[in-house]
Amino acid sequence: MRRRALIVGNWKMNGLIETGRGLAREVLAGLTEREERKLLCEVVVCPPFTGLADLNQILGSSSLKLGGQDMSEYPSGAHTGEIAGIMLRNVGCWYVILGHSERRAERGEDDALIGRKTAAAFRDGLVPIVCLGETLSQREQSQTLEVIEAQLLAVLPHLPDSVSKIQQLVVAYEPVWAIGTGKNATPQQVQEVHAFIRKLLAEQLGEGSAAKIRILYGGSVKPDNAADLFGLDDVDGGLIGGASLNATDFLAIVDAYPNDF
Ligand code: PGA
Repeated sequence: MRRRALIVGNWKMNGLIETGRGLAREVLAGLTEREERKLLCEVVVCPPFTGLADLNQILGSSSLKLGGQDMSEYPSGAHTGEIAGIMLRNVGCWYVILGHSERRAERGEDDALIGRKTAAAFRDGLVPIVCLGETLSQREQSQTLEVIEAQLLAVLPHLPDSVSKIQQLVVAYEPVWAIGTGKNATPQQVQEVHAFIRKLLAEQLGEGSAAKIRILYGGSVKPDNAADLFGLDDVDGGLIGGASLNATDFLAIVDAYPNDF
């Protein structure tokens, strides 16, 4: 069963307001030319927080949607420096990336916190894109599936009761060693982990939900490798870092998604 593809650009900590405006306009113009594909593929960009309000004005209700790169587990209050989910909603976000490996490594975010943030995202009306991934040393010690299982099982108890909401969850498999390094996981490595994630989702949430939840791949996705990755059975799109900062490359990645189903 094919799920509606999702391609997400994670701009990370790059660009000022003007840069983001130019990039988003170029991507939107490209999507508008691709009327047909728009129906098959949902496209999201996640700029730095400071660009969101401006891009919300520009994008409005167009086909290019907005997401946040992180959010607080709290709804509001005395949490200096934090951004609440409703604040992201307020500037037009539909999605929020949670548990990115850079936040796990640099900010010490652990599985328990990512679980609480997942609950908070649903509470605040956002769709969480929960990132999972093993480090190089974990892969070399054959611990990949064990690590993925622990990261995923920490999140699932925090899902809401509503089955239709659960099915909106997005999981992103991003091997840490492939992020921003130019090193790709091979299609075989990717499909193995994605199939494993789908099997775990089926065991924990039932076949119906597992068949609907989208599992994205991220880690050095580029125009020249995207088609091979997106052709895999359990890959439902991508979380794109570096290549999302260039509209031509990002649109070429959108074009790599198969549209013949
Ligand atoms: P990359 O980043 O495409 O630059 O490897 C992916 C990500 O961190 O989401």
